[in-house]
Amino acid sequence: MNEKQRAGEEAANYVQNGMIVGLGTGSTVYWTILEIARMVKEGLDIKGIATSTNTEILARENGIPLLSLEEVSSIDLTIDGADELTEDLTLIKGGGGALLREKIIAYHSTHMIVVADSNKFVKKLGTFPLPVEIVPFGYLKTINALKKFGCQTAIRKKDGSFYVTDNGNYIVDCQFGEIDYPSTLHDNLNQVPGVVDNGLFIGYAAKAIIGQESTITYVEK
Ligand code: A5P
Repeated sequence: MNEKQRAGEEAANYVQNGMIVGLGTGSTVYWTILEIARMVKEGLDIKGIATSTNTEILARENGIPLLSLEEVSSIDLTIDGADELTEDLTLIKGGGGALLREKIIAYHSTHMIVVADSNKFVKKLGTFPLPVEIVPFGYLKTINALKKFGCQTAIRKKDGSFYVTDNGNYIVDCQFGEIDYPSTLHDNLNQVPGVVDNGLFIGYAAKAIIGQESTITYVEK
């Protein structure tokens, strides 16, 4: 079993009958979703809230009943992946382009569990370029403003065109190198007009389940 599968499937054990469950996006939580689907087939009664169109399709195909965010008053537990995480459970997310919906859903969740393979667990964030979601209007100006914070920028592309998020926006991947003050950077980036949000998730996750070759590491706050 690979690390992602080990972590992903383990997280499904935290899902209990009657819960509203935020379903993350990516190749690790993929395994969580399949495991939850298996549990649903065996009688588990939950409703999922998808963090992306891809996850919505995956959940539906596998028989997990879904609700929209508007239909629930709160979410009991969200399980999601990360591109990098540190000991204090600060995350970089958005490698799959779903950071905005992921953050909205994490914000409205009572608990968030992160699932990741061991490569994602780092001393300091920033080797992975920080994804920043920006609106298309004035995007070159917005990118220039982002550069002033000391990063190298690359607008994300897919099949030769700009990658467009589920929300109709672009993603700029910002390479900062080591991020010393994630909270300050988060706030500064989000103050630039045209920035919708960035992939720093601070204070959301209470637990990380990190898959390793033959074991699992748990990080808790
Ligand atoms: C989606 O936009 C991201 O935030 C994912 O949660 C993250 O990229 C997950 O990575 P894995 O595919 O490696 O699980």
